[in-house]
Amino acid sequence: MSLDFVTNQEVIIAARRNLTQDIWDYLSGGSESETTMRRNRLGFDSLALRPRVCVDVSKIDTSTTFLGQKLRIPVMMAPIGSLQTITPEGGVAVAKAAAEFGTMNFVSSVTQPSLEEIAASTNHPKIFQLYIRGGLDWCEEILERVKKAGYMALCLTVDTAHYSRRERQMMNRWLPPSKRVESQRIYQAMVTWEMMAAIKKIANMPFILKGVATAEDAKIAVDHGVDVVYVSNHGGRQLDQGRGTMDILPEVVAAVNGKADVLLDGSVLRGTDVIKAIALGAKAVTIGKLQGWGLAAGGSAGLVRVLELLEEELIIDMGLLGVTRIDQIDAKYVCQAPPVTFPHEMSAFIHMPGGQLR
Ligand SMILES: Cc1cc2nc3c(=O)[nH]c(=O)nc-3n(C[C@H](O)[C@H](O)[C@H](O)COP(=O)(O)O)c2cc1C
Repeated sequence: MSLDFVTNQEVIIAARRNLTQDIWDYLSGGSESETTMRRNRLGFDSLALRPRVCVDVSKIDTSTTFLGQKLRIPVMMAPIGSLQTITPEGGVAVAKAAAEFGTMNFVSSVTQPSLEEIAASTNHPKIFQLYIRGGLDWCEEILERVKKAGYMALCLTVDTAHYSRRERQMMNRWLPPSKRVESQRIYQAMVTWEMMAAIKKIANMPFILKGVATAEDAKIAVDHGVDVVYVSNHGGRQLDQGRGTMDILPEVVAAVNGKADVLLDGSVLRGTDVIKAIALGAKAVTIGKLQGWGLAAGGSAGLVRVLELLEEELIIDMGLLGVTRIDQIDAKYVCQAPPVTFPHEMSAFIHMPGGQLR
């Protein structure tokens, strides 16, 4: 296994080689027409950078903090279910990579191995992501385990009231393992703001609401005392025909009005994407597909390489933009610009042989 990848494009090509069609499509696809997924990319591609020159950029610090924890770059690992289909170590591979690199990971409640095994695999702080599969008694039970295992925050995902039509998976006649077992998925469809508030109270730890896609919901979330509003459309895997997350971000940042941190995901693939999201008010971003591609290319070490390459891009991009610290990046450094490529899940990598690597 060669981990001397010089671009994340090479990582993705290796991932494609290592994955069967079923798993590739599970990881890389979206729902229905994949319009939301492509709009995530379009959002980034519709912004240009406005560099300042004659600034001393000989020393660059890419680090930031999130919920009081230091991150080497403002990029964390999004929750991914059924990780064991992508890499044999499953969630442990992500935890090890995050710990080694110096960032945090969200642990999906529908991945393997158990939340306790993943928690015990490293000492660094981790965030647990919950899907609701029962009433408040069930929530109490699982949150007891989450607290006992030492997770530092809870993330509740609320953009999955129904499981979407992911047509690549459907046409492959393939389901992720988490969907093959009989589960009480109906409870996820019954989540209301009251239920969210009850879960937040039981959890009694920093609380992140994932899947917010409007200013209206961001406002309700902060009125409920949520610590982090996480702008996400599940990477375009849930509601199709939605907006790209970068198009949603400004109204959410305005609605939150500094009362919570704002996280964003959705097609973050480049150092410049990180800069654009920070410029429009995100505290940090997370990666989903890119994380999975790193794991598929080389397990935990493959994911570390992905992060190193993102960091390399970020250092160079910050230097060329004329900033030396993350907190210097603001809206003055971006402006609207017409996109130059047709967006799809691979369009950030223009030298990809075979285009979309289907
Ligand atoms: C294979 C896969 C599985 C996912 N599973 C979960 C999950 O269990 N829980 C969750 O909240 N989000 C899940 N997501 C969504 C991600 O957390 C994240 O929102 C999304 O991947 C970000 O977009 P990106 O893939 O373009 O980076 C999953 C995403 C992928 C690609």
